[in-house]
Amino acid sequence: MLRKSPFKNRKILIGITGGIAAYKIPQLVRILKKEGAEVQIVLSESAKNFVTPQTLSVLSEKPALSDFFKSNQGDWNNHVHLGLWADLILIAPAGANTLAKMTHGICDNLLMSVILSARCPIFVAPAMDLDMWIHPSTQTNIQTLVDRGVHLIDPEEGSLASGLEGKGRMAEPENIAQFLSAHLAPKPNYFLGKRVLVSAGGTQEAIDPVRYIGNHSSGKMGFAIAEQLIELGADVELVYGAVTIAPPANCHSYQTLSAKAMKAKCDEIFPTCDVLIMAAAVADYHAVDVASEKIKKSDDALTLTLAKNPDILKSLSETKKEHQVLIGFALETEKEEFHALEKLQKKNLDCIVLNSLKNPNAGFAVDTNEVTLYCKDGEQFHIPTQQKDQVAAALLNKLGEWLTKTTT
Ligand code: CTP
Repeated sequence: MLRKSPFKNRKILIGITGGIAAYKIPQLVRILKKEGAEVQIVLSESAKNFVTPQTLSVLSEKPALSDFFKSNQGDWNNHVHLGLWADLILIAPAGANTLAKMTHGICDNLLMSVILSARCPIFVAPAMDLDMWIHPSTQTNIQTLVDRGVHLIDPEEGSLASGLEGKGRMAEPENIAQFLSAHLAPKPNYFLGKRVLVSAGGTQEAIDPVRYIGNHSSGKMGFAIAEQLIELGADVELVYGAVTIAPPANCHSYQTLSAKAMKAKCDEIFPTCDVLIMAAAVADYHAVDVASEKIKKSDDALTLTLAKNPDILKSLSETKKEHQVLIGFALETEKEEFHALEKLQKKNLDCIVLNSLKNPNAGFAVDTNEVTLYCKDGEQFHIPTQQKDQVAAALLNKLGEWLTKTTT
C-alpha cells in the first residue's frame, strides 16, 4: 500500500534568513513539494545574498516574498494572513540575530511580523559559527524560545563556513524534512472512545441558607479539558461544582455544589470509567452544624466548627481497577514540586498536574495558565503560559502520548 505523506496538502511557510546555509533551502523546498506540501517562502533582505528569490519562486511555485509592499502595484503582503495561512512555520537557517529578534519580539521585516502573527507550530533550524552557538546569549535565547513552545531542530557538527570544526551547521535538508514529518504524522489518539470522568470548579460548603465556604475556582481549566476530550472522541462525564461559565455541550454534566455531593456523583460514575481527571478544587472542610436559619450577627466574634471532608480522589484511587487511570491536580503556593510529588504518591495517582500560583498569568482568575505534568515514572512535561484551551490541548497531547507509551 502506498504511504500517505504527512506533508500532503500541508501549508508550510519557510522563513529564510541571511546565512550561508540558505543555499540548502532550495533542496528542502524540492523535498517538501515532492511530498505534496504547499510551500510559501518568506526571506529576509540578507538571505538574498545567499539564495535568489527567483530560484525559490520557481521551486515553490509561489512568489518568494520579502517586502511588505508589492513595488509597482501599491498592494501589500499581509503578514497576518501569511501567519494564519501556515500549518507550520520553519525558520531555516535561523542565525543568532534572528533567534535574538524572535526572543524579544523585534519585528523589523516581513518575516519577523509573520512569526509574531502565527498561531501554528514554529520550528527553528539554527545555523551559525560554533562560538556564536555556544555563547550564553544564544543559548539563553534558544531556551526561552523552547520554553515558549518553539521546536528546535538542533544544528549538526562538522566543518563550518569559518573554517572551524564543531557544532553549528544547519541540519541537512533531509534531516529537517524528517523532523517535520515526525511532527506532522498522525499520532495515536489515546482518548478516542475512552470513558473519562472530569471534575471541575470549586465546592461550596454551606454555613447557613445564605453563606458558604468556597474558593476562587472558575471551572475554566476543567471545562477546557472536558471540551478537548470531546474533540478527541472521548465519552465525557463532567461533574462540576461552583463555576463562572457554562459547561460544554456534547457531554453528560452534573452540578454538585458540596464536596459530599461531588463525592457521591463521582463514586457512582467512576467504576464504569477508564480515566479520571480530578481538576475540581474540593474544599477540605465543611461546617459541622449548618444553621437552618440565617445566622444573625450578635457577638463580636463567631466561631465555626469545621470537620474534614472526605478526599474524593484518594478514596477513588483505593477502588481503582488495573485498567483505570487517575490524574490529579495540585495547587500550591510554596514548595510546589515537592507537594505535587507527595500528592502523586499518597493518592496513588498515575500523573498529577501542578498549577503554579507564582505566575500572575496562571491560576484562578485569568484565562491563561501554566502547568507542569508529573508522571509516576518520573517523566515530566512543562506546558508554558497559554490560553486555557491551548493548555488543555497541550496537556492532553502529552498525557495521551505518555499513556499510550506506558499502558500498551
Ligand atoms: N481532592 C479531592 N478531595 C478533596 C481534596 C482534594 O478529590 N477533599 C483532589 C483535588 O481535586 C486534586 C487533588 O486532590 O485533584 C489535590 O488537591 P489539593 O487541594 O491540591 O490538595 P489536598 O489533597 O486537598 O491537600 P492540601 O489542601 O493540604 O494541599
